Amino acid sequence: MNQQTSYELSKLNTPTSIKNQNLINWVREIATLTQPDQVYWCDGTVAEYDRLCQQMVSSGMMKKLNPAKRKNSYIANSDPSDVARVEDRTFICWEKKEQAGPTNNWIDPVEMRKTMTGLMAGAMRGRTMYVVPYSMGPLGSPIAHIGVELTDSPFVVVNMKLMTRMGKEVFDLLGTNAEFVPCIHSVGKPLEPNEKDVLWPCQPTKYIVHYPETREIWSYGSGYGGNALLGKKCFALRIASIMGRAQGWLAEHMLILGVTSPEGRKFHVAAAFPSACGKTNFAMLIPPAGFDGWKVTTIGDDIAWIKPRVDPKTGKTHLFAINPEAGLFGVAPGTNTITNPNCMASLHENAIFTNVALTDDGDVWWEGMTKEIPKHLIDWQGNDWTPADAAAGKKAAHPNARFTVAAINNPAVDPEWDNPEGVAIDAFIFGGRRSTTVPLVTEARNWVEGVYMAATQGSETTAAATGQVGVVRRDPFAMLPFAGYNMSEYFQHWLDIGAQLESKQAVLPKIYCVNWFRKNDQGQFVWPGYGENMRVLAWMLGRVQGSAQAVENVFGYSPSYQDLNWDGMPFTQEQFNQVISVDNASWREELKLHDELFTQLSHGLPKVLTATKTQLESRLA
Ligand code: GTP
Ligand code: SPV
Ligand code: MN
Repeated sequence: MNQQTSYELSKLNTPTSIKNQNLINWVREIATLTQPDQVYWCDGTVAEYDRLCQQMVSSGMMKKLNPAKRKNSYIANSDPSDVARVEDRTFICWEKKEQAGPTNNWIDPVEMRKTMTGLMAGAMRGRTMYVVPYSMGPLGSPIAHIGVELTDSPFVVVNMKLMTRMGKEVFDLLGTNAEFVPCIHSVGKPLEPNEKDVLWPCQPTKYIVHYPETREIWSYGSGYGGNALLGKKCFALRIASIMGRAQGWLAEHMLILGVTSPEGRKFHVAAAFPSACGKTNFAMLIPPAGFDGWKVTTIGDDIAWIKPRVDPKTGKTHLFAINPEAGLFGVAPGTNTITNPNCMASLHENAIFTNVALTDDGDVWWEGMTKEIPKHLIDWQGNDWTPADAAAGKKAAHPNARFTVAAINNPAVDPEWDNPEGVAIDAFIFGGRRSTTVPLVTEARNWVEGVYMAATQGSETTAAATGQVGVVRRDPFAMLPFAGYNMSEYFQHWLDIGAQLESKQAVLPKIYCVNWFRKNDQGQFVWPGYGENMRVLAWMLGRVQGSAQAVENVFGYSPSYQDLNWDGMPFTQEQFNQVISVDNASWREELKLHDELFTQLSHGLPKVLTATKTQLESRLA
């Protein structure tokens, strides 16, 4: 880099209001490396958003939807090689491999820096480098942290505007010397003079790189989702989990919801399900028939930052959670007015859709959106599509097609969603997608057994990540792709937080394990799911309050048939047995998978977890 002439200061276009010299130096250093045609400092205004969208409509990257159908909304199709997170191209470059642990890809940071500097050299030629300042969490909240993303993708900028608190107020917060997480992103497709851009620039070989020691993120070759919106998984989960361990807090792949009972008591629940396993749906749940007077509200649908703090109201220590994001980047397929009415209502205006299908009247469509299949569509790859294609098994929308909207679009957004203090968590839920073995709901007897359940949870893989779909893999805490450090140490951190709370006589959240996805012999889901999940949620809250009954089993406590409210939903004792039953033989097989995980993680695995497994085995025998 020393050989390159430094990017001219005057070409940096730094607004005079920006006084943070570290920021200016870094922007100049990266501009020197990547050689953009120009540098643009985002102000986060609606005018800027509209201008960038208009620019992308002109270039063909986005299309404007029919405003009579969806006001001020857009559709974009990505390159077929760039449709989901790339776990095999995601690297956590600690100095030592053991620090990343056996579940993360690792390359020596010195070597990786050479590779990345090589790839980024001149990568932004012919493009604009956008400086995107953002806060994860309410501006100035004691739980929030700041990031700055340098990107050559206007698509990333408009998505960051919806997904984070983005804009010039963040530059103000940075003052002369406040810290930020530096994030560098390039689609990796420099343009020669007069070269016409492709509709979705990207590279076949992608790199999503984290340097934990310096808390930096470098992303190359993708313009899609978590690969490119660096505030999300890269910062708010991988880097933040590292910060959380150092500072005594948790960064989790969790939704946060509020539940108000008919008596007016408000509860807060955080739930970790793997990607495309129902967080958005659960966070926006509408209580079904039989739950008059209950209300569910959304604080977050994907990520939670959780810190212990004394509640001035009770004088006791609680875990307080905020949603570091300000928008939803949700799975479109399967979403409809029956499964998730709040979500559908969020998508009427100011939305961006990626990889859904386009209808002839300028609206969007995806599999599962309506019972009736449109007669003609343009599919996510830009081709004509008819019901004959459906019959041939060709999808109109990509299975990981997504929408981006601001959190405030959600009619059920919680009044506390933007509260810088966060909300006190009453219960944690962990769940996976399991067609067999795992029962509908189990309550852990104590914190350690809860950590064991979360640590050993498995789930069938989904289209949210590239690779095979539908294979069961262990996904501890739904964090397998997102833990920024050694998974065994991550388990220890959870145990430490629990022990610390207990020593302070804190109010410990109860821990639950759920599975909405058990199937019968015909391959159909037995549990109706979606809004009906309220029945399970209400039982959990009854347990928190001390009013609901349960029976003890090998793993912990679970409800009997009569312990759930069945008003308004016909579900027989026999059906209930199908979802709640524990088959000892299947569980002995399942425990072998726990064994495999523990063998993989043996270096530094907390002994108390192995002891918990031994107890389980003897109970099952
Ligand atoms: P990420 O954004 O990828 O982290 O995922 P998410 O957990 O927010 O996933 P989302 O809520 O968007 O889940 C989408 C998928 O889960 C769709 O295929 C839904 O149909 C399915 N799903 C959600 N809730 C339920 C449920 O209660 N029962 C069943 N059977 N499927 C569900
Ligand atoms: C996930 O895959 O868990 C997501 C989508 O929430 S992405 O932001 O692309 O990672
Ligand atoms: Mn997610």
